[in-house]
Amino acid sequence: MKKILLTGALGQIGTELTEKLRDVYGVDNVVATDIRETDHPVVNNGHFELLDVTDANAMGEIAKKYQVDTIIHLAALLSATAEAKPLLAWNLNMGGLVNALEVSRELNCQFFTPSSIGAFGPDTPKNQTPQDTIQRPTTMYGVNKVAGELLCDYYHHKFGVDTRGLRFPGLISYVAPPGGGTTDYAVEIYYKAIENGAYTSYINKGTYMDMMYMPDALNAIVNLMEADPANLKHRNSFNVTAMSIEPEMVAAEIRKHIPSFTMDYNVDPVRQGIADSWPDSIDPTAATEEWGFKAEYDLAKMTQDMLTKLKSKLA
Ligand SMILES: NC(=O)c1ccc[n+]([C@@H]2O[C@H](COP(=O)([O-])OP(=O)(O)OC[C@H]3O[C@@H](n4cnc5c(N)ncnc54)[C@H](O)[C@@H]3O)[C@@H](O)[C@H]2O)c1
Repeated sequence: MKKILLTGALGQIGTELTEKLRDVYGVDNVVATDIRETDHPVVNNGHFELLDVTDANAMGEIAKKYQVDTIIHLAALLSATAEAKPLLAWNLNMGGLVNALEVSRELNCQFFTPSSIGAFGPDTPKNQTPQDTIQRPTTMYGVNKVAGELLCDYYHHKFGVDTRGLRFPGLISYVAPPGGGTTDYAVEIYYKAIENGAYTSYINKGTYMDMMYMPDALNAIVNLMEADPANLKHRNSFNVTAMSIEPEMVAAEIRKHIPSFTMDYNVDPVRQGIADSWPDSIDPTAATEEWGFKAEYDLAKMTQDMLTKLKSKLA
C-alpha cells in the first residue's frame, strides 16, 4: 500500500483505520471519503473528499485525482439496518462494491473490503466454523456479504485484481459508535456501565458470537494487505476472531472493575433472530497459517482498556 483511498471513512472502522493508515503510510498517502462531512479529525487532519459510493464516476475521478494504488472499501449498511431496509442495503452494499472493484480494475489498484460472520447462516456448522463451509445466510446483509466474497474472488480470477478480505466478527471500540450491527450490544454495554451502572441487553443470555477489539481488527487489515500474495490461498474473506462471548461473560468481566454493575434483558426479536442464525465461534486457522493472523486482546484485556478509555472520553 502506498496511496490509499478509503470509502465510508467516518464509520466505526474507518474513523480509526484512517488515523492508523496516516500513521503508517504518511498523511499525504491516505484519502478519506464518506457520503457525509463532519467536524472530525478524519476530515480535518488530511485529505478528505465527499463521495457517494453508488456514484462510480465520482469514485473514479477521486481515485485518478490522487493517483491511488489501493482502495479500502468500507461504506455499507450493517446487519440490523439492512434487515430494516433490504432494498437500500442491496443497492448500497452491492452497487458500492462493484463500483469500487471496477475502479480497482481500471486503475490497477490493490483492493480490500470486509466481509462478516453474517456471511454464515443457520445451516453453517455452529462451532469452530471452518474457513470453507456451507454459507446460506438468511439475512439481506448475509446475502450481500456472500455475493461480495464471490465477486471479489471473481475480480481476482477474471481480471487479476489483487483483492483481499476478512470475515470480521463483531468489532468493539470506543472511538466511533457502531453503525447498526447485531453485535452492537457489546459496545453499548461498556458505555452504559460507566454512564448508568446498568445495561439492558437486546441480545439474550447464552447467545455466543465472535468479537474482536478494534486495534486487532486494524492490525489484521494492514497485515493482510502487506502479506505476500504467494502465500494467500483464500484471499477474500479470511475468518478472524479474538473471542467467542455471550452477554453474561461481558457483564461478569465488567463487574471485576465496577462491582455494582447490573444487567437485565429486553430481547429484540429481529437482532436475536440474526444472532441465532450466526456461528457461536469461527475458526481462524487459515488466516493464521496464510499470513500470520494473531489477536492481542482477549475479553479481560479488552474490558480493562475499554473501561479506561471510555472513562476519560465520557468524563
Ligand atoms: N463494525 C463491525 O462490527 C463490522 C463487523 C463485520 C463487518 N463489518 C464491515 O465493515 C465495513 C465497515 O463497517 P463500519 O462498522 O465501519 O460501518 P459504519 O456503519 O460504522 O460506517 C459506514 C460508513 O459508510 C458511510 N456511508 C453510508 N452510505 C454511503 C454511501 N452511499 N457512500 C459513501 N459512504 C456511505 C456512512 O456515512 C458511514 O460513515 C462494512 O462493510 C461492514 O459490513 C463491520
